[in-house]
Amino acid sequence: MKILEVENLKAYYDKARILQGLSFEIEEGETFTILGPNGAGKTTLIKSICGLVTTEGTIRFKGEDITALKTHERIKRGIAICPEGRKLFPNMTVEDNLLMGSIEGNGEERLEMVYNLFPRLRERRMHIAKKASGGEQQMVAIGRALMSSPSLLLFDEPSMGLAPILVEKIKDSLIKMKSEMDISILMVEQNVKMAMELADKVAVLVKGKFVKEGDRSSIGEVEKLYFEI
Ligand SMILES: Nc1ncnc2c1ncn2[C@@H]1O[C@H](COP(=O)(O)OP(=O)(O)O)[C@@H](O)[C@H]1O
Ligand SMILES: [Mg+2]
Repeated sequence: MKILEVENLKAYYDKARILQGLSFEIEEGETFTILGPNGAGKTTLIKSICGLVTTEGTIRFKGEDITALKTHERIKRGIAICPEGRKLFPNMTVEDNLLMGSIEGNGEERLEMVYNLFPRLRERRMHIAKKASGGEQQMVAIGRALMSSPSLLLFDEPSMGLAPILVEKIKDSLIKMKSEMDISILMVEQNVKMAMELADKVAVLVKGKFVKEGDRSSIGEVEKLYFEI
C-alpha cells in the first residue's frame, strides 16, 4: 500500500513559491530521503505535509486526500514530525518532553515502547532536557514523535548540529527503530551519510525542484551529483 502520495505540490510564503510542483510516493515501510543544500525547500516540504504552510497540489495519506485537513487532524491519522533543531521544551524533563507527544491518553504505554527502543532515555528520564547531550536530545525528539503511534514519520535534518560520531549513533537508533516498528519515513537531510544507509529511495532537491531521483541501486549516482551542487 502507498502510505503517502504527493502530486504536483507547490508551497508558498506569501507570493514566493518555494516548492515548484513536487510529485512522489512512499510505499508502506519505505524510507524516502530527500537531500538538498541549505534553502532548497526541505523544511518547507515537511511543513507542507503537516499542513503548516500554504500549498497547491494533492497530498494523500493511506489513500485519503488530506490536503484540506488541519495539522492536528493529520497527526491524528498517523503523521508525526521530528522537527529541524529538535524543538524540545528545554526546562522540562526528558519524560515530560516525551509525554508532550502523546495523544488520546496513550502516554504510559507508549513511553514504555520508547524506553525499550531507546534505553538511554529511560536512564535519563528525570533529567532536564537542556542538560542532555546533543545526541540524547535528538533521541528525545525522535521518541516524542513516536509517542503518537505514527505510521509516517517526517524527519527534518536529524543530523543537524551533531558531531559525526553522534550522527552514527542516531543512524543506528533509526535502523533499530525501523527493524522493530511498522513505520514509513520521509527524511530531509543535508548529510549524505545519514541519508544513504537508511534510504530505500533518494531524491535531490534544489531550489524547490527534484534534480535527480533514484532507488537504492542508483544512490551512488545521486551522491555524486549532490557533491557537485
Ligand atoms: N517563514 C518564511 N517566510 C518566507 N520565506 C521563507 C520562510 N521560511 C523559509 N523561507 C524561504 O524558503 C526557502 C526554503 O527554505 P527552507 O524550506 O527552510 O529550506 P531548507 O530547509 O532546505 O534549508 C528559502 O529561500 C527560505 O529563505
Ligand atoms: Mg531546513
